[in-house]
Amino acid sequence: MAILVTGGAGYIGSHTLVELAKEGYDAVVLDDLSNSSKESIARVEELTGKTFKLYVADIADRDIYEKIFSENDIEACIHFAGLKAVGESVEKPMMYYQNNITGSLVLFEELAKRNVKKVIFSSSATVYGDPAFVPITEDCPKGVITNPYGRSKSMIEEILMDICVSDPDWEVVLLRYFNPVGAHESGRIGEDPNGLPNNLMPYISQVSVGKLPRLNVFGDDYDTPDGTGVRDYIHVVDLSDGHVKALENMKKGVSIYNLGTGNGTSVLEMVKAYEEASGVEIPYVITDRRPGDVGNVYCDASKAEKELGWKAVRDIKQMCADTWNWQSHNPNGYED
Ligand code: NAD
Ligand code: UD1
Repeated sequence: MAILVTGGAGYIGSHTLVELAKEGYDAVVLDDLSNSSKESIARVEELTGKTFKLYVADIADRDIYEKIFSENDIEACIHFAGLKAVGESVEKPMMYYQNNITGSLVLFEELAKRNVKKVIFSSSATVYGDPAFVPITEDCPKGVITNPYGRSKSMIEEILMDICVSDPDWEVVLLRYFNPVGAHESGRIGEDPNGLPNNLMPYISQVSVGKLPRLNVFGDDYDTPDGTGVRDYIHVVDLSDGHVKALENMKKGVSIYNLGTGNGTSVLEMVKAYEEASGVEIPYVITDRRPGDVGNVYCDASKAEKELGWKAVRDIKQMCADTWNWQSHNPNGYED
């Protein structure tokens, strides 16, 4: 039996392959390599000593499923594949809805046809919008989402909920990630964004190796201890382990879990922690707030601990050390 991992060549997918292999799972990858490269899979193979079949295709390509299902015995799907750049989604909403929504619909239909009704979906804390309260529990109502990327995540959640209502055999887990950062401790796999990074950690790490001159800190007038935005950063290896625990605890219907540490860290605290881990100074300037940003986002992750036996164990120091290790050994990502 094998797990179908869509988007498995990407940042979170590649780390999850390692954790799956550790627990003895076989996995096959479906990825169109639109935001990744085969090299990540080669490195996962090097780290695990296992081989992973890679099907290079769009999840919306119906023909590929015939091949995948005739060549493998698939028991469940972890669905990472999707476009994720917030700014780009505002410029190209149709592309985002086509890729994320249509692609997911085709995937779910093709799984259902073959009676594979177990899906773990990569959702995001972005569905809470400006949260009604912090720490955010899974009971927190969804908020106003300000971009097509975030809306596509929320819509796919709802599609999966409707599927579960229509057919009680489905087992669906919606994992709402907080802010994934860090890299595998080997420094062999990590985050390799295309172009200018949108997110804080890859931006800081590119400053640290001299690829970018300085960090722009988006606002210091939030209602937070130092005025800069507070987020719940989670090490990507802990996050990946959360997928394995979710797989081991699947049950009928929809289950929703926040995956975060429960701790908030401000932008300036992150800069300081990164400087300490790397020994490199990170120059920064304070700029205006980024449109759509909110001040304080961190979760209550106790539901995942209680029901899945999962808890994030890696702290900010480790997140920064592992990011630095990856970035300093692979300044140009997988191109090196
Ligand atoms: P990533 O871009 O590194 O990985 C996504 C992978 O999906 C890439 O390898 C890409 O080539 C592939 N892909 C995209 N569209 C595809 C398609 N139509 N068919 C086949 N493959 C396709 O991103 P990531 O950071 O690893 O994120 C994985 C998932 O988690 C995404 O769905 C993302 O929206 C979600 N998520 C990420 C974050 C984050 O901060 N990284 C936060 C919350 C949720
Ligand atoms: C962003 C997205 C969110 C997405 C998430 C993960 C927006 C408005 N939100 O969330 O939809 O799910 O990434 O991909 O884009 N910061 C800086 N300078 C930078 C970059 C970030 O100061 O160059 C600050 C931000 O203002 C924020 C914090 O760092 O306070 C974290 O930002 P980021 O990593 O982009 O994550 P989110 O804002 O949580």
